[in-house]
Amino acid sequence: MRNSTVGLGVVGLGMAGGAMVAAVGTHPGVRLVAAADPNQALRARFEAGEGLPAYADLDTLLADPAVDAVYLASPHQFHHQQALAAARAGKHIVVEKPMALALDECDQMIEAADRAGVALVVGHTHGFDPAVMLIRELVASGAYGTLSMIAQWNYTNFLYRPRRPEELDTARGGGILYNQIPHQVEIARTIAARPVRSVRATTAVLDPQRPTEGSCTAILEFEDNVSASMVYSGYDHYDTDELHGWIAEGGGPKNPSHGSARRALRQQEGEAERQARTENFGYGNWSAELPPHQPHFGELIVSCAKADIRCGADDVVVYTEAGVERVPIPARPWRPGRGDVLEELAGYLTDSRPLVHDGHFGRETLRVCLAIKQSAAEHRGLELIEREADSYV
Ligand SMILES: NC(=O)c1ccc[n+]([C@@H]2O[C@H](COP(=O)([O-])OP(=O)(O)OC[C@H]3O[C@@H](n4cnc5c(N)ncnc54)[C@H](O)[C@@H]3O)[C@@H](O)[C@H]2O)c1
Repeated sequence: MRNSTVGLGVVGLGMAGGAMVAAVGTHPGVRLVAAADPNQALRARFEAGEGLPAYADLDTLLADPAVDAVYLASPHQFHHQQALAAARAGKHIVVEKPMALALDECDQMIEAADRAGVALVVGHTHGFDPAVMLIRELVASGAYGTLSMIAQWNYTNFLYRPRRPEELDTARGGGILYNQIPHQVEIARTIAARPVRSVRATTAVLDPQRPTEGSCTAILEFEDNVSASMVYSGYDHYDTDELHGWIAEGGGPKNPSHGSARRALRQQEGEAERQARTENFGYGNWSAELPPHQPHFGELIVSCAKADIRCGADDVVVYTEAGVERVPIPARPWRPGRGDVLEELAGYLTDSRPLVHDGHFGRETLRVCLAIKQSAAEHRGLELIEREADSYV
C-alpha cells in the first residue's frame, strides 16, 4: 500500500454509489479518488461535487494509479465481470450485494481475487449494522442462554421506487429476492453465526405492472435448532418504520407517507421512471452528515432462553425476568453500516485484520437466497447440503 489510506474508486454513481460516497468522507482510513459511470449527468455532478475524475468506463478507472480498491455499485449483472477485471488489474474489491447472480460466478470471483492476492469484501448489507453486531456479541457471550429464534419483519416501498427494467424481471436479477432478502439473510447469519441447514419459503408477485417478487416469507433453519423467520413486503402499503419511531432505514428522520411511492410512480412511466431514479436517488442525494440514529432493516427480535433482544433506534433493548435493559450501541466515528464496510476493508489492508464478509460469506448468502427462490417455486422445503445447493442457479 503506497499510502496509509486506501484510495477508493466508486463504480456506479446511482443510489448505492451515492450513499457510499457520503460514507467515505466519514472514514479516516479510506479516501475517495475517482468514480466511473456511463451516465454523463451523474459523472458531471460527481466531478463538480467532489473535484475528482469520473470516468465513462471501468477500464479507465482501473488504469488510474490512485485507485487502490474499487467499490462495485453497478447493477447486479455487472458485478461478476467487473470483479474479475478489478482483480486482473490488482485492485482490491468491495462488491455490493448480491455478490453475483449465480454461484459459479461467485466461485470465479473468489478464485480471481485469491489468484491476484487482492481483498474481496461483499457489502454493504444490514448485517454490518452496529446493532446487529452488538446483538451478535450479546448472544455469543452466553449471558442470555441458548439462542432459539431470530424474527424479522420489513414492510417498505421497495417495488415502487423508480426502477430500471431489469429490476422488475426476476430472470435478470430483479425483485426483492436478489436485492432485499440478502439483507435479512445476512442479519440472521451474522447473529446465528452457524450454518444454514434448510430453507422453506413462499413468495408473491402481486402487481402485474411490476412482475417480479415483491413479498416473501422465509424460514431458515440453522444448526442446533436455531431458526430465523423473515417477512418482507415491498408493496408500499404498511411501513414497519412506524414501529421504529418513524426513523428511516439509514437512521435519519422519516415522514409517514403510505402509498406515496405508488402515487408518484403513476406520473413516471418508461424513460421518466429511469430519469427519476437518477435524479432522486443517484449521487448528490446523500448528505455527508452522520444520521442521528442507527441504521436498521425493519423490526428485529432475537430470542434466547433467558431474554428477548430487540433492535432499537439508538440501542439494543433486552427484555428479561429482571425487566428491561437498554444496551447502548458503541459509537463509531464513521457512518454506521457503510462505514463499517470500509472499516473491514481498511482493517484488512492496513492492520491485517481478517475479513468477515469475504467472498465465501457473500456466496453463502446468495446460495440461501437462491434456495429461497427455489423453495417458493417448488412449494417445498430444501435441505442445504452442498451438492444440492450447487444446482441453485
Ligand atoms: N447495500 C445497500 O443498501 C444497497 C442499496 C442500493 C443498491 N445496492 C446495490 O447496488 C447496486 C446498484 O444499485 P442501485 O440501486 O445503486 O442502482 P441505480 O440504478 O441507482 O444505480 C446504478 C448506477 O450504475 C450505473 N451503471 C450502469 N451500468 C454500469 C456499468 N457497466 N459500470 C458502471 N456503472 C454502471 C448506472 O448509470 C447508475 O448510475 C445493486 O447491485 C444493488 O443491489 C445496495
